[in-house]
Amino acid sequence: MAKTKTTFFCQNCGTQYAKWMGQCSSCNEWNTIVEEIIQKEEKREWKQSNTSKKTTKALQIKDIILNEEDRIDTKNNELNRVLGGGIVPGSLILLGGEPGIGKSTLSLQIALSTQKRILYISGEESQSQIKMRAERLSDKNPNCLILTETKTQYIFRCIEEVEPDIVIVDSIQTLHTNTIEASPGSISQIRETAAELIKFAKESATPVLLIGHITKDGHIAGPKILEHMVDVVLQFEGDRNHTYRILRAQKNRFGATSEIGIYEMLSTGLREVENPSEILISHKEESLSGTAISATLEGLRPLMIEVQALVSTAVYGTPQRSATGYNLKRLNMLLAVLEKRAGFRLGAKDVFLNITGGINVDDPAIDLAVISAILSSNEDEAIPQNYCFAAEIGLAGEIRPINRVEQRILEAEKLGFKKIFISKFNKMSTTRFNIDVVLISKIEDLLQILFA
Ligand code: TYD
Ligand code: MG
Repeated sequence: MAKTKTTFFCQNCGTQYAKWMGQCSSCNEWNTIVEEIIQKEEKREWKQSNTSKKTTKALQIKDIILNEEDRIDTKNNELNRVLGGGIVPGSLILLGGEPGIGKSTLSLQIALSTQKRILYISGEESQSQIKMRAERLSDKNPNCLILTETKTQYIFRCIEEVEPDIVIVDSIQTLHTNTIEASPGSISQIRETAAELIKFAKESATPVLLIGHITKDGHIAGPKILEHMVDVVLQFEGDRNHTYRILRAQKNRFGATSEIGIYEMLSTGLREVENPSEILISHKEESLSGTAISATLEGLRPLMIEVQALVSTAVYGTPQRSATGYNLKRLNMLLAVLEKRAGFRLGAKDVFLNITGGINVDDPAIDLAVISAILSSNEDEAIPQNYCFAAEIGLAGEIRPINRVEQRILEAEKLGFKKIFISKFNKMSTTRFNIDVVLISKIEDLLQILFA
């Protein structure tokens, strides 16, 4: 019997300590350091037989054969795009997201829509619960096998038997390996089980999709190390009360991290949203005051987003400011600029701002739409529905240029907008567009054109 060894781990950041402390010196969290038993390693290989004979050889880059067609098509266009064209064999993909956001649904849907041999391992739901979920989804893949197991030793035994093309694990926090005593979900368990899965993936060239929980502050629960270990980190986000979900790559060893995938949660599972701009703009019979549409970019994808503002007289001494889906500090800054440059007495008004669709925007190009919506609500005068905006506002009230403006103009044109307001300082010719491109340089220009 090996001597029992224990170490202390911070459950928040994964830092290892030789003794217990009240506060983690690395992430400054209190009471997160927990003692975990780690036994001496007995057997860590997922399959011992094929490692001992293997010889490794260094190759020149030009001698390495690359086959792009090797990427596995998930039959899910949004996911393929985010991954950079499909799943790379032998890669480890970590899918993180808040509870109830749809991680299990998305993974099961992928499992059911490809015609590959899939092993879906769940430590969270029973086989019958997964069947119930599968019944609601339309795709049926006869090659999808469901296993409910949490011990990695049994999982690898099953993998050897089944020889799947893709392995899906729901979730890494439920896995448990024999070589370590700590309880499932603890730092050392997560690290060990992930290491075993990585070893398996690399040696057998089988991709593994890992589902991971996230903590309340939005990080993948467990160690940051997990994010370093895997090849791709995907974040599934969106407001749980809204039906739209955004899939984003935080890290991708095989592609760009700028692409996003958009889904809509329906009673029959997640639907891929191919033209997101159409759904994000609410359709109204007539123009209403306080709304403005912005041509933003999410990753490399142009997205038309509706901004709604409500300006009303403040009832109490301090006016209220609230922003949903937009940075409150930035809103306050824009209000100060409006006060100074456009002479609005916004200090005596409550201002509420909302980005529709439950989306969080941090593209500065939305600024112009934000102030247009605020001014429109303040004047109680509607902005025509076929106008849209794309520019950043500077502290001096100047309208600043933004990146990829052509892409935004083309998207607006495609969706039938008549006018787009951009900065005069965006150096480009505006004649080749069918849409009317209005160049403005300061807030006063905007006021004149919209509310003259
Ligand atoms: P789930 O995949 O279980 O979330 P996670 O694994 O990220 O915790 O998704 C849960 C939510 O999705 C649940 O609240 C109900 C909803 N849902 C639908 O609206 N339609 C469906 O077809 C399915 C399967 C789930
Ligand atoms: Mg789940």
